[in-house]
Amino acid sequence: MSLAIVRWIAGPVLHAARQGPFALRESVRVGPQGLLGEVVRIHDDTLVVQVYEDTTGLSPGTEVHGDGQPLAIRLGPGLLGQIFDGLLRPLSGTGNSFVQPGRRAPSTTRLHFEPRLAVGDVLAPGAVIGTATDAAGRVQRCLAPPDAAGVVERALPAGARTETDPVLFVRHADGHLRELAMSHVWPVRVPRPVQRRLPTQAPLVTGQRILDSLFPVAQGGKAAIPGGFGTGKTVLLEALAKGCNADVIVYLGCGERGNEMAGVLDEFPTLTDPRSGRPLMERTVIIANTSNMPVAAREASIYCAITVAEYFRDQGLHVALMADSTSRWAEALREVSGRFGELPGEGGYPAYLSSRLADFYERAALVDTLCGERGSVTVMGAISPPSGDFSEPVTSHTKRYVKAFWALDVKRAQARFYPAIHPLQSYAEDAREFAPWWAAQGNGDWLALRRRLLTLLDDQAQLERMARIIGKDALPARQQLTLLCAELVNGAFLRQSAFSEIDRVCSPARQAAMMKLLGRFIEMVDAAGAAGATPEQVAALPGLRALQRMGEEVADEQWPQLAELQARLEREFAQIAPAATASPAPASPAAAAPSTEPRDAAHG
Ligand SMILES: Nc1ncnc2c1ncn2[C@@H]1O[C@H](COP(=O)(O)OP(=O)(O)OP(=O)(O)O)[C@@H](O)[C@H]1O
Ligand SMILES: [Mg+2]
Repeated sequence: MSLAIVRWIAGPVLHAARQGPFALRESVRVGPQGLLGEVVRIHDDTLVVQVYEDTTGLSPGTEVHGDGQPLAIRLGPGLLGQIFDGLLRPLSGTGNSFVQPGRRAPSTTRLHFEPRLAVGDVLAPGAVIGTATDAAGRVQRCLAPPDAAGVVERALPAGARTETDPVLFVRHADGHLRELAMSHVWPVRVPRPVQRRLPTQAPLVTGQRILDSLFPVAQGGKAAIPGGFGTGKTVLLEALAKGCNADVIVYLGCGERGNEMAGVLDEFPTLTDPRSGRPLMERTVIIANTSNMPVAAREASIYCAITVAEYFRDQGLHVALMADSTSRWAEALREVSGRFGELPGEGGYPAYLSSRLADFYERAALVDTLCGERGSVTVMGAISPPSGDFSEPVTSHTKRYVKAFWALDVKRAQARFYPAIHPLQSYAEDAREFAPWWAAQGNGDWLALRRRLLTLLDDQAQLERMARIIGKDALPARQQLTLLCAELVNGAFLRQSAFSEIDRVCSPARQAAMMKLLGRFIEMVDAAGAAGATPEQVAALPGLRALQRMGEEVADEQWPQLAELQARLEREFAQIAPAATASPAPASPAAAAPSTEPRDAAHG
């Protein structure tokens, strides 16, 4: 192990004189406590080291020892259900209120290992070597490291073992014998290899209507959630973690306030997964790196989280990674870069901000894994732009790398309209590709309906501008009806409380039924308007209230009831504009509502 001696130290950055060979990005241990750090620069005989732990008390003369390997973490079956700090050291079950400085000791919990390979078998890189079963009966696949391959020379029988006990001995082609355990170590900055990356296929079902129906993100896709202070980023990410259809959730609290993280830490262990009925924590890994922890560790926490997510993906699972918030990581980059003496770029951030963001988001993918399974990592990153200004560097660079952009709007949040995602500032580039998936969920018209709703919301924005000038009542009746429809789409469909028992998660079947009902409602309003029905008449329909409250009142399994609501609305419309609604699904409002219709028919 090489040695270096600290010469100069300022916060998370230190300079040390090296006395042996060091490599760039080599992980190092600093001082008697063995604080974790990484070599970020080498000038002649001076190392520049970024330390991921609190450096208070270190002084010149302190020893720095190289690990001879890049910054790496241990990936194994013990990760699931645990809460870690930013350096992936367990925070739960340590019996100590303080995180101990220095490296984490491997877990001593024993799991039941069941081997899959026998002596003489050929081990391929990344293959499944066996399964691990924990005390709760959860079974996980154990993977060989992606760089191990050879012939099995010795295999230990099934039994209770710790994550690091050797279970398999493999002779590599170059002759050396390698010991494999249930877990293995992998460098966090290196993306884990896969057989192939695949084009997106299905969306990640989030259970949030505005996302699934208007701005879906692919399984294996990337989404950004920019939003000013208090617009609901954390609540949205938590709602996604609780309700989305991923097999494993990696929730990263990166540099956010401790009390926000405390909410997650307190709440998650008490929740059950609506899909399996099992505790939600069983499918969750929480990485908590709050704002009071050393800033440099935010960098490590981001890479640890994505590496953990890739590890579960490699077992053939669909993983969702929520990062709250990537802005705090960017701020850490800025702070540390300042201490390196680098020239600041845009907004004071280092020039490599963009490439770092790209590296992170690029690791999201749908893949064929080395062990022949299909898995994905979907990344959802919150961004906290100062003063909610989306033109700042972190938001604008992130925009280049994500396919779904869920912009939280301050005005909507102030009006307590949640989730405060702005339908005109948000987008989903992949949306078209999910039409077949929605057709399989019973909504063959999804793309057309989506377009209809978005156009309506766009019209609303323009009409509201006009209404502010001339007054809403001065608008022509047709435009007032458009506003009425748009308000209904907002209130009945886009609004969804994260705290409502019935509505916090909405199944695709219910979303499809709601969307179709709204589509039909808009057709009926158009037709009635063309037939001369007044906005007051439409607004007075008794069925409107039920439509407005359908999200809160019709639970997932009751979605067929929406057909009854539609029948009721058809009847009510028939009363105010009989001829207009005569055909059940008119091809176009104009066709259904001949303009020759006598005006007073509307009052019949
Ligand atoms: N989907 C939602 N349903 C109901 N209430 C919500 C929802 N989203 C946000 N809220 C309300 O808004 C408040 C602020 O939300 P949140 O803490 O998620 O904001 P934030 O964007 O994470 O803020 P910060 O910038 O401080 O991190 C919440 O305490 C909650 O009362
Ligand atoms: Mg927050």
